[in-house]
Amino acid sequence: MKANSFGKYFGITTFGESHGPAIGVVIEDVKPGIKFPLEEIQNELDARKPGKKQFTSSRKEEDKLVILSGVFEGKTTGMPICLVVYNKEARTEDYEHLKDIFRPGHADYTYFKKFKIYDYRGGGRASGRETISRVAASGLVTDLLKDIRINLYPIQIGKFVAESLDFNFRNELNWFDRNNYNELVDYLQKIQEKGDSVGGIVEVKIENLPAGLGDPVFEKLDANFAKAILSIGSTKGIEFGDGFELAQLKGSQVNDQMDKTGFLSNHSGGILGGISTGQSLVFRFVVKPTSSINIPQKTISKEGEEVIFKSSGRHDTCIIPRILPVAKAMIKLVLADAISHQKLIEDNKLDLVDYREAIDKIDEDILVALIRRKEISIIIGKYKKEKQIKVDDKEREKEILNNLKKKAKLWKINENYIEGLWKLIIEESKINQ
Ligand SMILES: Cc1cc2nc3c(=O)[nH]c(=O)nc-3n(C[C@H](O)[C@H](O)[C@H](O)COP(=O)(O)O)c2cc1C
Repeated sequence: MKANSFGKYFGITTFGESHGPAIGVVIEDVKPGIKFPLEEIQNELDARKPGKKQFTSSRKEEDKLVILSGVFEGKTTGMPICLVVYNKEARTEDYEHLKDIFRPGHADYTYFKKFKIYDYRGGGRASGRETISRVAASGLVTDLLKDIRINLYPIQIGKFVAESLDFNFRNELNWFDRNNYNELVDYLQKIQEKGDSVGGIVEVKIENLPAGLGDPVFEKLDANFAKAILSIGSTKGIEFGDGFELAQLKGSQVNDQMDKTGFLSNHSGGILGGISTGQSLVFRFVVKPTSSINIPQKTISKEGEEVIFKSSGRHDTCIIPRILPVAKAMIKLVLADAISHQKLIEDNKLDLVDYREAIDKIDEDILVALIRRKEISIIIGKYKKEKQIKVDDKEREKEILNNLKKKAKLWKINENYIEGLWKLIIEESKINQ
């Protein structure tokens, strides 16, 4: 399973751990001859990096983007692009004492349960540093988004709520309520001194989005945003439009009525049936308080012994200021995918390059399906051997082929072609069994 890959049309694969040599991303299917936006990507990485803003981790990293492949003389070549950021200030000794301990609120316990081995240094793959890859990759889709504007800002940090928003009020926290900004800074200062942490809520407003982006039923735009946002470490919930408020409202209050001029309200948050309505797209997501705190808490060791753990590594008092560029990157990637698909179904806007991209994508999907099929066949083979069941089952093979032929007939595909293909697949599955 490609658990470290995201996107169907603009696909990326990310790699790297917090204290490994580098964090990076591989991006395929980028058209040749496009100016590589090095400066823009570096700016976004600078906005995400630690140690720059108040209340963020004191880990000092340059986070300088290095291009390993796919770019020549400042332009994309059409080859896979590999981008990395080297980890320079990894202080592994800070984490030595916790190699056998599951830190509260972290992914240590679940990674250990799943893989039986994990890189405990700085959160390993579950570290916030993993998000560098997403920010770097999203820099390549900016042109595709054209006039779409993505605004995101915190509306709550800890117990503070931003009520009157003034977007001209610039500050490191991106907090747009002048009225309680100083109070908020004092509050965060106290939280930091105590070694504790807080979370918050971020609101997203996407403007100039055309109607018609997103697809039924598993590719709904809201479902894809939810997956993209919840894939970021520390995000715990998302709501669209009126969100959880809807529970206590009536249909008569929340249906977005229409007249000749268009929609008269936007309770749905700009998405109906998983497809954009052309209104502002609005959602909010919640970020939990940073797990690492310098306060003793109960946990257990790998051996199951109870221990008291107190973090001594560097951490963000509040993740919100650093999560904004990451969430924006994920939103850009979701939109890039939706726009690319829309281009495919609006036939008149297609050129040969688009058609070839579509065919290449389908071929790749077939390959992935074949690999997965072979993996499962091997598992079935092993299972049967363990249970002393005969591995070869001609009857079952016949049954599957008959079913496929029936479907082929229904879908008007040549039955002989399906039979030939099926026999090849079966032969391949038997190798290594
Ligand atoms: C940009 C960013 C920075 C983060 N910084 C920290 C940090 O300093 N300390 C920490 O404990 N978790 C931090 N996290 C959160 C962890 O990655 C995450 O909470 C942890 O792996 C557990 O996963 P979960 O909260 O998604 O369940 C950060 C996340 C992001 C996106």
